[in-house]
Amino acid sequence: MSDTLQTKAQVINQFLPEKLTTKHSAEAFAPSNIALCKYWGKRATELNLPTNSSLSISLGHLGSHTRISHSENGADVVKLNNRTQDEQSSFCRKVIAFINLFRRDQSIPLVIDTRNNIPTAAGLASSASGFAALVLAINDFFELRLTKVQLSAFARMGSGSASRAIYTGFVRWDMGKQEDGMDSVASQLDFQWDDFCIGLIKVSSAKKPVDSRSGMDRTTATSSLYQNWPAQAAADLITLQKAIENRDFSAMGACAEQNAMSMHATMISAWPPLVYWLPESLAVMQRVWQLRESGIAVYFTMDAGPNLKLLFEESSRKLLETEFPQMDIIQPFKSH
Ligand code: DP6
Repeated sequence: MSDTLQTKAQVINQFLPEKLTTKHSAEAFAPSNIALCKYWGKRATELNLPTNSSLSISLGHLGSHTRISHSENGADVVKLNNRTQDEQSSFCRKVIAFINLFRRDQSIPLVIDTRNNIPTAAGLASSASGFAALVLAINDFFELRLTKVQLSAFARMGSGSASRAIYTGFVRWDMGKQEDGMDSVASQLDFQWDDFCIGLIKVSSAKKPVDSRSGMDRTTATSSLYQNWPAQAAADLITLQKAIENRDFSAMGACAEQNAMSMHATMISAWPPLVYWLPESLAVMQRVWQLRESGIAVYFTMDAGPNLKLLFEESSRKLLETEFPQMDIIQPFKSH
């Protein structure tokens, strides 16, 4: 019989005290992040262990605030943006299932209150910041004194990209190779880039027809182009890290854009095809390419959805604000 730790509960359990203590309440914040080298595909689904390492930039003060306190009425209450969620909702079930990994069989009814300050207009996913804020609040509330490595590993079990949301700035998530995933964790790159701007362009706020989790599974199972993805992602990660170290904006932008397009190529070649783009997405891409032809250093990246994130430096900000008046601009190293 193998003694390998495989389930989330088994992995987490070894870091928990036998009996939990609790505070009156605890509150934590985690920022949202956008991958420049994407996480796409899992080698193990239970623990969200990726097939490739990834690199992201966090979105400053935009993300999730989570507060945990004792529930007065003996039952768990889950709130999202000030609204109590139905206990059958997928949000509520995910939050409770995650908390139960820590609470185990102890009866500690809680109020878990999450507020996202990501502009709804931006069309950004919040599961990364949500699980990271939740794990940080759990750590504080139950006085677990977990290390950042452990926090990143546990956040990953909620959602892969949440492993990166424990940190700010440029963050690399190493895929790791251990079966329990405790080496599949993120760390912060020690680089500031004050002029770095991210422009969020929402072309649709409709719920994605296929979420990232199912999209990844479908791609790895059916796309023959996916075979090439892990090697490309590994090479891109090195290129991106060098470009960041050298402050070479064009090299960084070009690599991030090609990485996103390559990920989308694996999606498009899945079966049934996964095409997240809308005609408006393509129109923005074409405008970005035209602007580049005319000498403006602007690049884009996209996740599993139709919305775009433009990458540019402060010197191009004015011009791009005129080009894309609907864009929300974030300066990750200047936000408070
Ligand atoms: C395209 O982290 O949402 O945004 O681990 O299944 O919860 P799960 O997936 P998730 O996937 C994010 C995919 C991506 C790329 C990225 O953020 O690296």
